[in-house]
Amino acid sequence: MPPYICAVLTISDKGARGERQDTSGPALCEMLLAQGYTVAASTIVPDRIEAIQGAMRLWIDQQGIDLVVSTGGTGVAPTDVTPEAVRPLFDKEVPGMAEAMRQQSLMKTPNAMLSRGVVGIRRQSLIITLPGSQRAATENLAVVLPALYHAIAKIKGDPADCAQHNA
Ligand code: MTE
Repeated sequence: MPPYICAVLTISDKGARGERQDTSGPALCEMLLAQGYTVAASTIVPDRIEAIQGAMRLWIDQQGIDLVVSTGGTGVAPTDVTPEAVRPLFDKEVPGMAEAMRQQSLMKTPNAMLSRGVVGIRRQSLIITLPGSQRAATENLAVVLPALYHAIAKIKGDPADCAQHNA
């Protein structure tokens, strides 16, 4: 199993200003490391479309990061712009992964329907946008983790039969 390279982006005005400690980003890094992924970068940006797109473009277009996971800004508050920032970057959307996260999360809290998180492919990389709280972010990542390695492998053109990856 090749160690795919990830980056974690925390999207938070308060976090970027240093007014709130980011616990979601480190928790996501830990989960990914525990699954055998390499975490090459993590940073915090404010809820600004240009800042979010800038980080994604740097990591994917210039550094060839395989998986970018973001946390925050998926909700319905006036400042929440993560889907608006990320969707234009997609070559393809992967709605099933976002649907699965919302479906499983709804069993934990009705507030899950407030996340507008999206998942998609840019070049040969996968972008996953998760909600902002540590609990919401880790619960949502846990939903897609079992399919994540296979997803990245297929995005990169792995010709292997899907049956070989099914448990
Ligand atoms: N999903 C899970 N699994 N657990 C949660 O606690 N919180 C929700 C939702 N998704 C939550 C969840 C809440 S309260 C909000 S407002 C939305 O995610 C959007 O979060 P964000 O604006 O921080 O991205």
